Amino acid sequence: MPISRRKLLCQFGAGAVMTAALPSLAESRFGEFPRSIAEGRSGGPVILLSRNENAYGPSEKAIAAMRGAEHSANRYPKAQTGDLRDRIAKLHALEVEQIVLGCGSGEILTAAAAAFGGRGKKVITALPTFEQLGRAAQIDDAEIITVPLSKNYAHDLDGVLARTDAATGLIYICNPNNPTASITPRRDIEDFLQKLPRTAMVLIDEAYHHYVAPTASYASFIDQPVNDDRVIITRTFSTVYGLAGIRVGYAVASPETARTLSARCLPDGTNIVGALAAVSALDDTAYIRTCVKRNADDRQEFFNQANARMLRAIDSHTNFVMMSAQRPATEVVEHFKKNGVEIGRPFPPLDNYIRVTLGKPAEMAEFWRVWDLAPAHKMEM
Ligand SMILES: Cc1ncc(COP(=O)(O)O)c(C=O)c1O
Repeated sequence: MPISRRKLLCQFGAGAVMTAALPSLAESRFGEFPRSIAEGRSGGPVILLSRNENAYGPSEKAIAAMRGAEHSANRYPKAQTGDLRDRIAKLHALEVEQIVLGCGSGEILTAAAAAFGGRGKKVITALPTFEQLGRAAQIDDAEIITVPLSKNYAHDLDGVLARTDAATGLIYICNPNNPTASITPRRDIEDFLQKLPRTAMVLIDEAYHHYVAPTASYASFIDQPVNDDRVIITRTFSTVYGLAGIRVGYAVASPETARTLSARCLPDGTNIVGALAAVSALDDTAYIRTCVKRNADDRQEFFNQANARMLRAIDSHTNFVMMSAQRPATEVVEHFKKNGVEIGRPFPPLDNYIRVTLGKPAEMAEFWRVWDLAPAHKMEM
């Protein structure tokens, strides 16, 4: 995708807020290298820049809560999941009946596909987008319709409306979108909801909500709700809260829809360790702020490095970046793998783009070192 040098510099120059003094947590926690290297499955060291996790880990308070959970392991998690639902309801000023917990938000996406998709129904998703809901719906024999993102990498909501009919059971809007890190303007979603047939449900996936810097074109549908029973919003503890391995997510919906979703989720699918960690993670607002700030700095540094190499990346509102690699992503993924760095898989039709999850500064320095090892590439401008 060609881009002029001027446009590129404007894009990268925008919002060039550079690192001020870091918030209170010890620098060593953020700067260290060895702790951030996970063992790869084959046993070799791998820097994981592939799964959109929080490289800085969970808050110390969440870790302490998990340590305290072990003696309750003989009990079912009723009290702890009850507390977590209460805590989430309080956070968002909602009724507890509106909160559904899942074993990751992925479980809720699957439950939504089962509840509102199924044989004879249509499920509409984007291309490219996070695929879990579409895949689950496909397994349940729904007809899957994929509508390409717009040229700004937003959901093409007019395109979605054009494909919507009485058989449409569920529409998936990932905002910000994975893998493009782009946002769909709030006003466009509101207009879309006005025009949408009453029979179609809409799931808005806000997995990366915390990483969106304040901007007029974005507002969470949990923080600024619309009075619309068709809307389900999902969030996860896998991103900013640093708890991907503990598997906790939730949905916010009308009480009736919440009951429908819960019926499709595993009973007690959220375990005691996850529930206790999630409550502590929500309480540790200072840590969330620190991670958001860190991510903003890491993201800016990524764009600085890309800019210095005249590389084009899609403006990111998340903890990952989709960057033009100017050659097939499969080759680039392989090059990084050989050098001990795992980046995201290719995401057709963006075959020449790579998705890079932001790691700690030392990990990103290694990413760029490995990038620079690749044979010189053709410039697009
Ligand atoms: C957009 C989006 N939604 C949901 C998920 C699932 O997250 P989890 O099941 O860990 O909550 C992911 C994970 O990558 C994601 O990118």
